Amino acid sequence: MELLKSLYWRHATKKMNGAVVPESQVNQIIKAAIMAPTSSGLQPFEMILVKNKAFKERIYNEAAQQTQILDCSHLLIFAAWDQYTEARLDSVFDNMEAIRELPKGTMDDFKNSILLNFAPWDLERQFQHAARQAYIAFGMAIAAAAELKVDATPMEGFDNAILDELLGLREKGLRSVTLLPLGYRDEEHDWLAPLKKVRFPIEKMLNVIE
Ligand SMILES: Cc1cc2nc3c(=O)[nH]c(=O)nc-3n(C[C@H](O)[C@H](O)[C@H](O)COP(=O)(O)O)c2cc1C
Repeated sequence: MELLKSLYWRHATKKMNGAVVPESQVNQIIKAAIMAPTSSGLQPFEMILVKNKAFKERIYNEAAQQTQILDCSHLLIFAAWDQYTEARLDSVFDNMEAIRELPKGTMDDFKNSILLNFAPWDLERQFQHAARQAYIAFGMAIAAAAELKVDATPMEGFDNAILDELLGLREKGLRSVTLLPLGYRDEEHDWLAPLKKVRFPIEKMLNVIE
């Protein structure tokens, strides 16, 4: 299976070499993230693609000065909805009705049942739910990058509140979740590259009920 081979190949790259990933491949990685399944098909997140050097430098300072942010070709940021609103759910189901050529209002009952489900949740719980959906897309992007032999470093090591401010995310009803620098490993200086992958054996990870 090619995907599995790619997953063995990839690692959380610790040093990148500054080479540029073709835009067509960055687009494929982003499209894979968009194809992630999400709860009720809500897609409650957005991505921000940073190419700008000065911007990367500002983010680098808020991300424990992790050099991959400076040396990556593209920095993909995942940001989740800060809450579920009726307008947002309308955007989801209007889109579904349009694409599936359904009469307007077909999805209303489903939308209302979801709204009812979310109603008792405080804003933090709503955001955490949305963030979990963003993580699925994040994983898809990591796998897609590996398929293309593009290196990536999944990152949570940054100051979310400052990044939100830097990118003006709160004004857009978004909160940052993860960073994904995309680029190419610096073979000589990437200390993780030569190390063996560390994973528990399948017997420890998998419980089978027969
Ligand atoms: C959600 C998440 C957050 C992570 N944050 C960072 C980070 O901030 N910096 C970093 O260098 N690696 C980070 N990592 C990489 C992990 O340490 C790495 O994936 C793990 O040790 C397994 O190694 P591998 O990805 O090379 O197989 C993160 C990974 C995930 C999934």
